[in-house]
Amino acid sequence: LQKSVVKDIGLAEAGEKRIEWARRHMPVLESIKEEFESTKPLKGARVAACLHVTVETANLITALVAGGAQVALTGSNPLSTQDDVAAALAARGLHVYAFRGENEKEYYDCIKKALEISPNVTLDDGADTIAIVHKEYPELADKMFGGCEETTTGVVRLRAMADDGALRYPVIAVNDAETKMMFDNRYGTGQSTAHGIMNATNFLFAGKTVVVVGYGWCGRGFAMRAHGLGANIIVVEIEPRKALEAAMDGYRVMPMSEAAPLGDLFVTLTGDINVIREEHFLLMKDQSILANSGHFNVEIDIPALERLAATKTEAKENVTEYRLKDGRRLYLLAEGRLINLAAAFGHPPEVMDMSFANQALSVKYIVENGRRLDRCVHPVPVEIDRRVAELKLASMGIRVERLTPEQYKYLHSWQMGT
Ligand code: ADE
Repeated sequence: LQKSVVKDIGLAEAGEKRIEWARRHMPVLESIKEEFESTKPLKGARVAACLHVTVETANLITALVAGGAQVALTGSNPLSTQDDVAAALAARGLHVYAFRGENEKEYYDCIKKALEISPNVTLDDGADTIAIVHKEYPELADKMFGGCEETTTGVVRLRAMADDGALRYPVIAVNDAETKMMFDNRYGTGQSTAHGIMNATNFLFAGKTVVVVGYGWCGRGFAMRAHGLGANIIVVEIEPRKALEAAMDGYRVMPMSEAAPLGDLFVTLTGDINVIREEHFLLMKDQSILANSGHFNVEIDIPALERLAATKTEAKENVTEYRLKDGRRLYLLAEGRLINLAAAFGHPPEVMDMSFANQALSVKYIVENGRRLDRCVHPVPVEIDRRVAELKLASMGIRVERLTPEQYKYLHSWQMGT
């Protein structure tokens, strides 16, 4: 078993400094780590984790190791690994197989290396480990306690597997915990997507027309932040209730074909394939910017862009210029990969604190209960979700109101008068 594959182990010291900085902003995870250190609830767990290798992830891994788990970590996207973090974890002696700029084969080879620890828990951001285990290592699937999934995209994939009867071990939909989805997806994606776009382009949002494709929690969060920076927002959405919400949030709502000629910046956050495609590229203004903040690089139809382009050049780091035959230039950011991690730091530690607290407690739950759970997608137990909220509030110095006995009785009875 090869110990680690990273770009440059010499980056370890710089990585440790940044991991420590994040740790100081992740108090909930820190308190769980301390509890894990004394109770060792993960003893015997072998965790294959396929996550964005960031400073925040490093702190999650530290907590899992403190709980007694053996962990092998791989990156969950070829452009999201922070090489100094991978180096720091490798220098600590952990199994890390990740470097920024992996090609497709290297990406999957890294995941396969992590499977050499014979995991009994998988931890995913996009369900790639689960997919490989099911397709290529079914013997591992049968020994698994269970898995945890971090993203909307992954949960959608896993529900499809479960509906097909193909899922061979239970998975916790960490994404769907309220203390994950409503904060990480909304405030985390909102801020880090704007950060990535600004880093790549120094784009001025004020006065521009920004087309937000998808109005789930991620789309809502980004629309809110772009609006706050002075942009005019157009929302493209297929789900009528979400479209209605966008309209009443004060945004214009229309199909992509109508938005295409109006936008200065297009950002996809849908989890679906080809939401911006040839017919739309043909309508866009010169110098339109295209970015994706969904998990996979499939939301913008890049092969169509390649076909349409007369020339393709690197305008600057993370910006590819496609010059169409009529001379219009379209700029694709970070090869259509998630802009917030490819061109910025990903979500800030304060929100990842809650996401990863859910992950850590869900891993413990899986280790303790996985054998008894059905082979389907399970919610994060509500006690975990509430505990994460309580710990976060306490860390922020916020106290909440309590019900009086009279109020409690009123809420729990139907006989009392109105
Ligand atoms: N996903 C989005 N932001 C992230 C971060 N900072 N660390 C790990 N996964 C992330």
